Amino acid sequence: MSKIKVEACVSVASDTDIVNARRQGRALADHIGFSSSEATLIATAISELARNIVHYARDGEILVGMVNGDSCPGISITARDSGPGIPELKRVMLEGFSTSGGMGLGLPGVRRIMDEFNIESQVGKGTTVTAIKWKR
Ligand SMILES: Nc1ncnc2c1ncn2[C@@H]1O[C@H](COP(=O)(O)OP(=O)(O)OP(=O)(O)O)[C@@H](O)[C@H]1O
Ligand SMILES: [Mg+2]
Repeated sequence: MSKIKVEACVSVASDTDIVNARRQGRALADHIGFSSSEATLIATAISELARNIVHYARDGEILVGMVNGDSCPGISITARDSGPGIPELKRVMLEGFSTSGGMGLGLPGVRRIMDEFNIESQVGKGTTVTAIKWKR
């Protein structure tokens, strides 16, 4: 896979920032040529990751970019923060796991929407989620 070309980097610390990150991601998805319903799903994935940043880490950033796959382009999302990290990394990908009384659907939902998904987290250091969706 070739390099990610970052198109937007949004600082995320408030609800307004979540909306902004969502909007920028949607615009890039449209630009790459995703269908309207795919672009909506991509925007939803960005919202969930941004919401987690605000809720659990207080602040962080979302990067959206273009990536060239072997046979098609894609959109990449990176959500990173220097928050508390996730001690139970294995469990957070199970639907219904939440430490905040939430639905626990955010991260599993993002994984389902996107084609590639990776989460790295270190307790006391922070969390980085990277995800790609290919435009087939
Ligand atoms: N950026 C983050 N920093 C620290 N912990 C996180 C972060 N993102 C997620 N988590 C942890 O992972 C759990 C699962 O996250 P997920 O988004 O799947 O569900 P939720 O936020 O609890 O509920 P929902 O998103 O459905 O409202 C959270 O409850 C939280 O403990
Ligand atoms: Mg969540």
